[in-house]
Amino acid sequence: MAVYTSSAELGRVMTVNDFFVRPDHRRRGIGRELAKHLIEECERMKIDEIGLEVLHGNKTAARFWESVGLRQADRFLFRKKLGR
Ligand SMILES: CC(C)(COP(=O)(O)OP(=O)(O)OC[C@H]1O[C@@H](n2cnc3c(N)ncnc32)[C@H](O)[C@@H]1OP(=O)(O)O)[C@@H](O)C(=O)NCCC(=O)NCCS
Repeated sequence: MAVYTSSAELGRVMTVNDFFVRPDHRRRGIGRELAKHLIEECERMKIDEIGLEVLHGNKTAARFWESVGLRQADRFLFRKKLGR
């Protein structure tokens, strides 16, 4: 699940919110193929930047995204939860 937004600073941004491979299908190159498809589709859409968050403890995801060419961003992540 990814959403497109535009930003004065970053240009056309695609933010990946959810990216999963079923546990019993992992480590067979499926994630790499999905990421390749995502990147190609973003290139077709003239996206300037793909962004996503990875939890600190999720080393697998961090290694995965590095392995498909993404680099860690030099940014702080801030948020405020609003109660309902
Ligand atoms: C991250 C995830 C999508 C990877 O999917 P996958 O299909 O297993 O990944 P691939 O088999 O294509 O692996 C590609 C490369 O990523 C790296 N990688 C993947 N899993 C890894 C692991 N457990 N440990 C270290 N490196 C790993 C490797 O470099 C791997 O290449 P290699 O197998 O030739 O060594 C999958 O583990 C997942 O669904 N995790 C849970 C959800 C999640 O964390 N999503 C990302 C949050 S944004």
